[in-house]
Amino acid sequence: MGVTMHLINFKNFSEHQLLELIDLAIEIKQNPVKYRRALNGKSLAMIFQKTSTRTRVSFEVAMTQLGGHALYIDWRTSNLTIADIYDETQYLSRNVDCIMARLLRNSDLQVMAKASRVPVINGCDEKYHPSQVIADLMTMKEKKGRLKGLKLVYIGVHNNVCNSLIEGCTKTGVEITTITPIFNEPSRDNELLEDAIKTGLWKSTLDISSAVKNADFVYTDTWVDMEFFTDPRFFEEKEKRIKLMMPYQINKNLMAGSNAYIMHDMPIHRGYEISSEMVEDSRSIIYEQSENRLYAAKAILMKLVSK
Ligand code: CP
Repeated sequence: MGVTMHLINFKNFSEHQLLELIDLAIEIKQNPVKYRRALNGKSLAMIFQKTSTRTRVSFEVAMTQLGGHALYIDWRTSNLTIADIYDETQYLSRNVDCIMARLLRNSDLQVMAKASRVPVINGCDEKYHPSQVIADLMTMKEKKGRLKGLKLVYIGVHNNVCNSLIEGCTKTGVEITTITPIFNEPSRDNELLEDAIKTGLWKSTLDISSAVKNADFVYTDTWVDMEFFTDPRFFEEKEKRIKLMMPYQINKNLMAGSNAYIMHDMPIHRGYEISSEMVEDSRSIIYEQSENRLYAAKAILMKLVSK
């Protein structure tokens, strides 16, 4: 039996493999009918320990449109709450062809990958969000016809999405500048950041206006992780973050004179990381970017499951 390929982050993915995934996503978007039986008879287990709209919908619809089937498993109503993740995954991977999991902790996802006989896809944990970034890179390539030499500026909190953007961009020749006055410590992966520095394509600064001036894409994300957004215990930290981050909001003033496309992985918090008018602005490609989650999910499933 060959080695099972998982998508936990991009560490085991070469530039060539990432570009192949991005191009496949574009090809599937253009020729959906050609792929409608590609995963005939295959099943995907989707495990959610946290809330989701796009990740759940895109992977579930992707499986249906590829001729397969997806099962939604809510962590709280499954026996993952009372049993060992390793044992439950051993069982699951004997009944399904792939597992996509959105877990609170990357360490649990690593256990899952170790136990699984079938590919495990990271549906976003505290450190990485790789399926989001495949859709992001796909969207950038659709807009500009290439990736190499493009300039993306990420403005927000250094988090899981930021890590995957740094990894995805530096592996595909995109220059990425991050403006992150706050670092979400649970997302820290020094190895990933050191590898990014070596490419010469990642820069971190707080000089927001010069960064935006040269950008092809300006990207933002929530200042507060989804699991804390409505948690009263996080109220003080949330207020502190809003105060500190307000000067880094994507708004009309910041974007004045810029032709950069505006990106956001959603869900959006209008009036916080981005002003409402910038969501609707002609430079905003946020909804196209979110639509592309479907084609990215299909490409990921095709590559991992049909192997
Ligand atoms: N961007 C993203 O992952 O969206 P959801 O949290 O709704 O899945």
